[in-house]
Amino acid sequence: MKIVFATHNLHKKSEAAAILGPQWELLALPDIGCLEDIPETADTLQGNALQKAHYVFDHFHANCFADDTGLEIEALDGAPGVFSARYAGEGCSYSDNVQKVLREMKGITNRKACFKTVVALILDGQEYLFEGRVDGQILTTPRGSEGFGYDPVFLPDGFDKSFAEMDASLKNSISHRGRAMQKLISFLQNR
Ligand code: IMP
Repeated sequence: MKIVFATHNLHKKSEAAAILGPQWELLALPDIGCLEDIPETADTLQGNALQKAHYVFDHFHANCFADDTGLEIEALDGAPGVFSARYAGEGCSYSDNVQKVLREMKGITNRKACFKTVVALILDGQEYLFEGRVDGQILTTPRGSEGFGYDPVFLPDGFDKSFAEMDASLKNSISHRGRAMQKLISFLQNR
C-alpha cells in the first residue's frame, strides 16, 4: 500500500520506513513533488499534525499521515512543547535548541521531561489520531552523536544511554514517535 508521510525530513522518513516494514511503500513530500513548506500554525501538536495531513490530502489527493512532536520539560512548565523546532528562535540549529535547554535548566534539580508525538492519518477522507509518549530526564551535558534534535540531552527512563547514544532500532522501539507509529500501523493492519 502506498502512503505519504507529510515530511521533508529524510531522517524521519527512514525511521518511519524501518518501523513500517517492506509491505508499505512510503513516500515523503519530495517523492510526490511537494517542495513547499506546509503551514504549521496551530498551537497544539494535534492541530499541527492535522493541518499538515489535510494539506497533503487536499493538494495531492493521497492517503497520508503527518506527525508533530514536542519535548515537554516539567520544570519549564511544558516548554519547549509545540515550539520545540524553533525554541532558540527562527532558523536555529538543533544544537542552539539543546544549548538553550541546558541554559534554562541550569541549577534545576527536577529534570523530568517527556517527548510526545501525535500522528494524524487521513485515510479515504476520514481522520484518525494516534499518540506516543516516552518519559525521561534532561541530562546536564550532551551525550552521543546518533539521532537528531534533543536526543543528546534526553535520557529515557529505564536506560543508561541517551537517545543519541542508542542505535536507531533501539530508539525506535521505545520512542514517542515509534510508539505513535506502532499504533498507526496496528490500525492500518487491522482494517
Ligand atoms: P517535529 O514535529 O517532528 O518536526 O519535531 C519538532 C522538533 O522536536 C524537532 O525540530 C526536534 O527539535 C524535536 N524532535 C522531534 N523528534 C525528536 C526526536 O526523536 N529526538 C529529539 N528531538 C526530536
